[in-house]
Parts: sequence; C-alpha cells; structure tokens
Amino acid sequence: MAEVLHRVGIDLGERSYSIDIGQGLLPAAATFAACPKAAQAVIVTNTTVAPLYARQLQAALAARYAQVRTVVLPDGEAYKDWQTLNLIFDALLQHGCDRKTVLFALGGGVVGDMTGFAAASYMRGVPFVQIPTTLLSQVDSSVGGKTAINHPLGKNMIGAFYQPQLVVCDLDTLATLPERELSAGLAEVIKYGPIADMDFLAWLEHNIDALRQQDKAALAHAVKRSVEIKAWVVGQDEKESGLRAILNFGHTFGHAIEAGMGYGNWLHGEGVGAGMVMAAHLSQRLGLVDAAFVERLTHLIERAGLPTRGPILDTQDNAGAYLEHMRVDKKAEAGDIRFVLIDGPGKAVVRSAPDALVREVINACCAPASVGA
Ligand code: NAD
Ligand code: GLY
Repeated sequence: MAEVLHRVGIDLGERSYSIDIGQGLLPAAATFAACPKAAQAVIVTNTTVAPLYARQLQAALAARYAQVRTVVLPDGEAYKDWQTLNLIFDALLQHGCDRKTVLFALGGGVVGDMTGFAAASYMRGVPFVQIPTTLLSQVDSSVGGKTAINHPLGKNMIGAFYQPQLVVCDLDTLATLPERELSAGLAEVIKYGPIADMDFLAWLEHNIDALRQQDKAALAHAVKRSVEIKAWVVGQDEKESGLRAILNFGHTFGHAIEAGMGYGNWLHGEGVGAGMVMAAHLSQRLGLVDAAFVERLTHLIERAGLPTRGPILDTQDNAGAYLEHMRVDKKAEAGDIRFVLIDGPGKAVVRSAPDALVREVINACCAPASVGA
C-alpha cells in the first residue's frame, strides 16, 4: 500500500515543489495525481533499472497519460555524455512529443541529471518529475534542480539549473540496490552533518549500522533530514551564487578522483567519501577544526563502507595531478581552486588554500586504490 511518510517542501516561489518520501509510492497512480496534464509521458531510465521498475511505473502513469513511452539508456557514469543525451532527444522527436510532454526520470543520479538536462532543453523546456531509485539520488541529486552531463575535461561541466515538478522517493526501491551503491549514497548523507547539523552527525553515528542494513525507519529519517537541509540551502541560493556551494563538501577532491580514475571506476559517493576526509584535513591544517573532529568524521566515513584515502592518480606527481583536475572545478575562480572547508563543527566556509598546503594534504591522504566490487 502506498504511504507517504514525510513530505518536504522546497520553497522557490513559482518553482516550488514537494519531495515525497515513503513506501509503495512508485506503483501507485495516486502518487502522480498532481503531475502536469499532457497527452504523453516519457519515462527515461537505464538498462539496470528498467527491468526492475519501469513496468510498474508505466502502469501507474497510464491512469493519467494516454501514451506512456519508455527510453532505456545504457547504464553508467561513463554514459553521462552528449551521445547518450542525444538518445533522449531522438526518442522525443521520433514519438512526436510536444512541449507539454512530461519526462519521468527513473533511476539514480546519472539518469536524473541527464533527464533533467534533456527536459531543460527539449523545445526550450518541458516539465519533468524525479523518481530517484538510489540512496544518493534520494538524498541529494533529485532535489535542487542541478542537471548536467560530463565533459572529458571536467565533471558535470555542461548543464542547466532546472527544477522538477515533483520528487518521489520510494524507499522500497532501495531493496535492490547493491551494497556498494548504498555506501556511496551514505557519503552524501554524512556530508550534511559537518556542514549544517552536528545533531544529525551524532544521529548517524548511532544509526549507521541500521542504515547499512536498510532499516526502513532509519532510511526514512536519513532521507528526510538530508532533503530538509538541502531544501533549506537551495531555497536561499538556488543558482549557487554563494551558500549552495557548501553542499559540495568533499566534492572538489572527489571530482578530481572521479575524473582522474576515469568516470565510473570510483563511484561519485566514494570520491566524496575520501574527498571529505581530505577536505577535513585541509580544514585542520588551516586551524579551522581540531584533530579529534577529523578523526570522528573519518571513522564515520569508514563505518559507512567508504574509502577514507584518495587513490594515486600519478606516480610521478600525484598532488600535481589532483591540482590539475581541481582547477577545472566549477567553483574555481580564475584558476584559483575554492574548497568547501569545515569552519568549526556544523559550519562550512568556501575559500582557497595555498597550493603547498593542499599538496601536503594530498600526499598525506592518498594510497594505492582499493575500491571496487
Ligand atoms: P547512478 O545513477 O550511476 O546509479 C548507481 C547504479 O545503481 C547504477 O548502475 C544504476 O543503474 C543502479 N541502480 C539505480 N537504482 C537502482 C536500484 N533501485 N536497484 C538496483 N540498481 C539500481 O549513481 P548515483 O550514485 O545514483 O548518482 C551519481 C550521479 O549523481 C553522478 O553523476 C553525480 O555527478 C550526480 N549527482 C548530482 C547531484 C545534483 O545535485 N544534480 C548531486 C549529487 C550527485
Ligand atoms: N549536490 C550539490 C548541489 O546540489 O548543489
């Protein structure tokens, strides 16, 4: 039976919407009763998620839309590119989709980011709904309207800010998620503690095992609190002119790891896990937090099943390789890398740091890679 356990609102004026968190939501027609009216709905998903959930969603949407089509993309971060994005446009045009057509992103962050970007640009904008099916996408990527594809020279470099009409987080879908992916999602949950809410960090310390065991009540709370914090931040700074950058805690190092190792080898959340440890160490070297805080955060990241050390990207000049990747980060200003640092527990700051200090942190925090199934 469909049950909405929590409904979180994101306040963006005429672009406001709800994030529904619950169980049994995906197969229920009632979940989508307030979605925009149109003749056609198009589900965008991938080869892994389609056999699990596309048919159920198709049946639920058939109650509201005369035609429901499905576009199935290849699965993987390596396909978050122009060529794969074009498959969505091909299908929309081949099916004669008009500018009222509603897109439904069914999958993890890759499908969500690509569907959102397709929705932002098809006929200059069609409505879309996020149905995130990974923990990472439920707690982060489906909320806030960042949509993008990767460029070989940088992660999420081509995209748009474009808000969905609704986000539906059905906790039941997490049952089929591989353990490694669940851990990757926990990285984005953990980040909300040090940047905004130390009580939540303490709650995570008590509940990390329950979360890894997929305890439904624990998952529901973790998704709700994460989304509340994200909605609060995005509500104040939708297009990241300042505050929103704090949501990228661990991401500057993390994106360098993802790009440096080749997209898809380290999961996004794994890069963020090791990246948060590196950013915490940098915060400590700048005198913003003490060693006990760094140790506490590192321990939680380890208990979440995530790497706490970055990989070696270049045996000759590892720190140089990290710096090169980090200079194309979107927060960089005139080649000056901007880091999200912890400025005392529960508070984040965005600032630059001397290259020499960053090199020291990278040298202290990297080891030969040991992630993967
Ligand atoms: P993902 O989309 O690659 O999904 C992970 C894997 O799990 C994939 O193989 C996928 O097919 C599979 N999967 C998805 N749902 C499943 C389910 N219920 N059962 C079994 N398998 C399932 O990765 P992700 O971690 O969800 O998202 C990472 C992406 O999100 C990155 O591209 C990152 O840049 C992006 N991201 C975007 C934002 C944003 O604000 N837009 C924020 C954070 C991350
Ligand atoms: N995931 C970072 C953001 O949405 O801003």
